[in-house]
Amino acid sequence: MKIIEVKDYKEMSQKAAEYIIEKVCHNPKIKLGLATGGTPIGTYQNLIADHKQNGTSYANVMTFNLDEYIGLSGENKNSYRYFMDEQLFNHIDINKKNTFVPQGVAEDIQAECERYENLLEEYGGIDLQVLGIGGNGHIGFNEPGTSFQSQTHVVNLATSTINANARFFNQIEEVPVQAVTMGISTIMKSKEILLLASGESKNNAMVQLLNGEITESFPASVLKKHPCVTIIADRAAVAGLKIQC
Ligand code: F6R
Repeated sequence: MKIIEVKDYKEMSQKAAEYIIEKVCHNPKIKLGLATGGTPIGTYQNLIADHKQNGTSYANVMTFNLDEYIGLSGENKNSYRYFMDEQLFNHIDINKKNTFVPQGVAEDIQAECERYENLLEEYGGIDLQVLGIGGNGHIGFNEPGTSFQSQTHVVNLATSTINANARFFNQIEEVPVQAVTMGISTIMKSKEILLLASGESKNNAMVQLLNGEITESFPASVLKKHPCVTIIADRAAVAGLKIQC
């Protein structure tokens, strides 16, 4: 794993955007795996600014999101489809038909999981997957205890995840308790992974990721088995850790 330590959220967002832009310029047909949540918002803002200023084109890019809440349709302001449209897709020249997010309101949710997994396979898999990390080490919505062999599946969200995500909702009761998420093996199939971490609230998770063992009780630890992972983390997230750049 290559670790890039930066000053703060702003610098993490700039560096992450530069990283992604370089990949998009190198391969205009790149398939990006994308995350939602607070961490990548600044990165997406930088991608938008660069698109407007420098014309980096996403016309031939495909995107696949990690996860979606069960019970929220794409029109719901708290759905991850809505988030992606608002935070990124509506502001760049991407063809929305090439942007994929699992369906949170599919009639048969198991069939939806299979459809999404097959879709990824059909398109040849993800070239670069962007990840955030949960305080409990989750990646996507793969909570502690999830099998490293898991494919796209339904999860019951951990109480800590529901609490952490309540900030995006009017009240905690509105936070869905289940989600569809790419599995750990799905994520691990990506050719390359970019993990972003910012802030003190991610410090314990980063310590465990970098110093702890590889175990299903800490999902992100699986990334140590991946041949091509870059972490961009700010000082607060990696405080107390010895980083060799
Ligand atoms: C989001 C996702 C989650 C988040 C994680 C961190 O699509 O899959 O794993 O990356 O919960 O969330 P934030 O960035 O809000 O701290």
